[in-house]
Amino acid sequence: MILKKLLPLAAIISIGFTAPSVSADTFVNAADTVEYRQHAFSMIRDNFGIMAGMVRGEIKYDAATFQQHANAVKHLAHIPLAGFTGVGKNVTTDSDALPAIWTKWSDFESKMNDLINASAELAVAAESGAIRTIAPKFLATAGTCKQCHDNYRAD
Ligand code: HEC
Repeated sequence: MILKKLLPLAAIISIGFTAPSVSADTFVNAADTVEYRQHAFSMIRDNFGIMAGMVRGEIKYDAATFQQHANAVKHLAHIPLAGFTGVGKNVTTDSDALPAIWTKWSDFESKMNDLINASAELAVAAESGAIRTIAPKFLATAGTCKQCHDNYRAD
């Protein structure tokens, strides 16, 4: 009896906790795919903004907090690309993505890799706990955002 009651619950839990893999096949429709990449960028921005505040001296620098956000961006940097593939490919509806993304895909992908590499270096620099060491790596990472947005995002 108990088992019978638990079974539907187990089914719900297992559905609720199925982790979406970062693969194009995961997405069933274009709108979800566009949201996926936008949400990933929003998370990147939220974490990035706190670091920006600390680099500019608007937020008191705290090494552990900075490291936490640097680590977050390092991991999040791997997320958005999948949202430009599969059913999200060529989709610019409710999106600021420019069609050039898909006509110059290898360049777009390499600019995404620039962010991945720069944010990984930033996370390493953060371990120094020295804002002088961190600031140049932060600016380099910010440069990768701008490089891509200037070419591939409508503003
Ligand atoms: C390789 C290209 C690329 C890189 C690198 C990149 N972006 Fe973007 N970003 C885009 C594109 C394209 C969009 C538009 C996505 C859409 O609307 O479908 C976007 C959208 C955004 C958005 C708006 C999300 C929303 O809710 O609509 C924010 C915020 C953002 N990016 C922040 C950043 C920050 C911060 C960085 C660097 C740390 C960064 N991006 C790096 C290409 C990039």
